[in-house]
Amino acid sequence: MTERVLIFDTTLRDGEQSPGASMTINEKLMLAEQLERMRVDVIEAGFPISSEGDFESVRRISEKIHSITIAGLARCNKGDIDRCWEAVRAASKPRIHVFIATSDIHLKYKLNKSRAQVLASAREAVAYAKSLGPEVEFSAEDATRSDLPYLAEVVEAVIAAGADVVNIPDTVGYTIPSEYAERIRYLYSHVPNIGKAILSVHCHNDLGLAVANSLTAIQNGVRQVECTVNGIGERAGNASLEEIVMALKTRRDLFGIESGVDSREIFATSSMVTNLTGMIVQPNKAIVGRNAFRHESGIHQDGMLKEKLTYEIMQPEDVGIKESTLVMGKHSGRHALKQKYAELGFHLSEAELEKAYVLLKKVADKKKEIFDEDLIVTLRYALPVVPAVYKIKNVQSIAGNQVVATATLVLEKDGVLLKDSSTGDGPVEAMVKAVNRITGIEGKLAEFTVRSVTGGPDAVGEVFMKVDFDKASFIGKAASLDIVDASARAYVDAVNKSIHYHMALEAQNGSVEA
Ligand code: KIV
Ligand code: ZN
Repeated sequence: MTERVLIFDTTLRDGEQSPGASMTINEKLMLAEQLERMRVDVIEAGFPISSEGDFESVRRISEKIHSITIAGLARCNKGDIDRCWEAVRAASKPRIHVFIATSDIHLKYKLNKSRAQVLASAREAVAYAKSLGPEVEFSAEDATRSDLPYLAEVVEAVIAAGADVVNIPDTVGYTIPSEYAERIRYLYSHVPNIGKAILSVHCHNDLGLAVANSLTAIQNGVRQVECTVNGIGERAGNASLEEIVMALKTRRDLFGIESGVDSREIFATSSMVTNLTGMIVQPNKAIVGRNAFRHESGIHQDGMLKEKLTYEIMQPEDVGIKESTLVMGKHSGRHALKQKYAELGFHLSEAELEKAYVLLKKVADKKKEIFDEDLIVTLRYALPVVPAVYKIKNVQSIAGNQVVATATLVLEKDGVLLKDSSTGDGPVEAMVKAVNRITGIEGKLAEFTVRSVTGGPDAVGEVFMKVDFDKASFIGKAASLDIVDASARAYVDAVNKSIHYHMALEAQNGSVEA
């Protein structure tokens, strides 16, 4: 039987630490369900002590997802570990993931602790976590810049204390494959009890080597890799899940090791992460970029027509990109739409289908051809993640190089229409100010991205916004044939998320609905 490597997905924890990638609790639940569908082995759902919102999302994911392991992160102290256990204990397979830095740089400048103190904290934390839950992972933060004999000592101690998984992270993306391989081989040959735990790696991409390092680690005996969808994460991100999975699959001849991931769910998961975080993957991104399977040069196209093997090492279908068999348009019915969505990897309930259908009819009224990208974007907006407290009824804007930009908006709240106008340096700023006046909520536009979903003059424009509010930031998103309309909808989406977040925090003692 082929050997297996465990795929530990940390999109909801390390990925969510990417600047601007924050998700609401319902968005995290939605992504967790998709990760389960894709059959990752472990979901790291969050860092429960870090905020009420993180605690709540880990707890809710633990209650909902039962076929795979749910991990929560904790530092090596009792408070963190208790909070983590509280959040994951409802899971069928809970895991407490404790970490402490082991490099002298971190010991001296961050922790102000001696090596002996860190060793003791690690050992005690693992033993304590193990007394609460069935499965414990230990991470030696900044392991690749840690003194190797000391690292080996820590690894031996935490395994003796009960760690089931020991992670050797390249926290700052510093190592290169040959060096990492040597480090892992050293641990295998110098830690006497290493066989009692699964060795794991967690690679950051500061030098663009996260996937290469993860694959090298697998070749050297590591049997868990930590990664994120689309490679999102701190700074330059984490190792990209889809690249690791497809490298193992495509080069099975070389690795002889497989993951349990259903690669046909990759494209849907990647689209969902883009949608939820607003972090758009670059067109040339391996596996999931828009151009990953497109052949432009004449020589390549000629080769492809003669035999796909000439220029294609993977099939688009392997990652869930299907060639269209159904063309959607104004006259398409619900049944065809449902089938089309299924082809694209989205399995909709009747209620979801109905919402998507109604929205799509509106798009089809204005747009001749409906592309797969239009369908995916439509779906994002057909499935709102928070109930809309404010709904947009009307958007009017005047802009140009000879006039003062002005926006007038009509919003609806609890059946009441609220109208106001404002001027600004441009139509978007005028719109933001008008919404702030109506809602009395002071949001500040921190990031603004607009992209055309498909080509052509009648393309749908999609807007992602990061909006800073008093206590937290939220991603607002919307799509429309009109950019100012899309911007207003995205902004109001962020406002609704912020309102909902505060309502959820207030209801903290009861059941939280965020
Ligand atoms: O990068 C890192 O070292 C981490 C640990 C908490 C695993 O994210
Ligand atoms: Zn990390």
